[in-house]
Amino acid sequence: MHPVSRPISNTEPKSSSAPSAGNPIGTSSEASAVPQANWTGPDPTIAPVTVRSLQRAMREGKRFAALTCYDATTARWLERAGVPVLLVGDTAAEMILGFPNTLHAPLDFLVLLTAAVKRGAPRTLVMADMPFLSYQCDEAEGIRNAGRFMTEGFADVVKLEVDASFAPLVTKMTRAGIPVVAHIGSRPQHAKQVGGYAAAGKTADEAMRIVHDAEAMLDAGATMLLVEATPVEVTEEIMRRSKVPVIGCGAGPVCHGQVVVTHDLLGLTDRQPPFALPLANGSEVVMHMAETWKSRVRTGTLGEHPYALRDEERNEFRRRIAEAHASRDSATG
Ligand code: KIV
Repeated sequence: MHPVSRPISNTEPKSSSAPSAGNPIGTSSEASAVPQANWTGPDPTIAPVTVRSLQRAMREGKRFAALTCYDATTARWLERAGVPVLLVGDTAAEMILGFPNTLHAPLDFLVLLTAAVKRGAPRTLVMADMPFLSYQCDEAEGIRNAGRFMTEGFADVVKLEVDASFAPLVTKMTRAGIPVVAHIGSRPQHAKQVGGYAAAGKTADEAMRIVHDAEAMLDAGATMLLVEATPVEVTEEIMRRSKVPVIGCGAGPVCHGQVVVTHDLLGLTDRQPPFALPLANGSEVVMHMAETWKSRVRTGTLGEHPYALRDEERNEFRRRIAEAHASRDSATG
């Protein structure tokens, strides 16, 4: 949940092709089929989503959805729903660990979550988020840490919050074979510096700086850009320059892809940014489930018990219990 102060429109993508065999990229609109609970496994004819498939989607003008994900079970459902990109964001610090901001996401923890998400969604492009101070202190350490997301976390791409000064690091990562998603615009890891989560690029100076950041990242070889919480004119200027897919997060509807925090859309957070308002009443579902369980436990209405002894085992069990009682009684006189 990155609540920014500026309202940004939440326009639905215009194209709404549901994922189909051989083409997992689709915006999976409300109109597309909801996967059935009797789903029997991944369709072997659907190819895994790769950086190349996103580039193709970009060229073909097909907008793609991305969502945050932090666990294998949710990942499985998001893959079944046809979401082609899952971001294991440092928002895990807020959504999973309960911290007030994203600064508290340990590296080892995020690597583990990334691997879990990939296990749950093996055909989805999994984007790992490099946490605070895992790449800012030392370039060699940053490259090794990014490598861990790929080798231990099975990430397909690695995201860094950057400005133009990170260009040398992005070049070195790219040279090492690490596909970098350059996160520009509002950078939550800088929230303490700017007094909280806020939109970026609202003055001409700042807007120019963000466009310059984008250019530097493109020159450095970034595989994708992620632009957060910028006015649409700034995003459009970036889009004009970019030959790689641009994913927006509150950056307006013009981007090739859109990402938001799943817990916001589920309605599980207390506050959402204006570009990620709930699409489901998750809090009501959870509250209803918990109330129902509480009342069933209280009244002992748990349904038929699923485990039973076979008749001969039950007889033998009773015989042995009786024997144990008898020998205890004779021992105590
Ligand atoms: O960590 C995260 O979830 C993010 C997105 C909201 C862009 O960086």
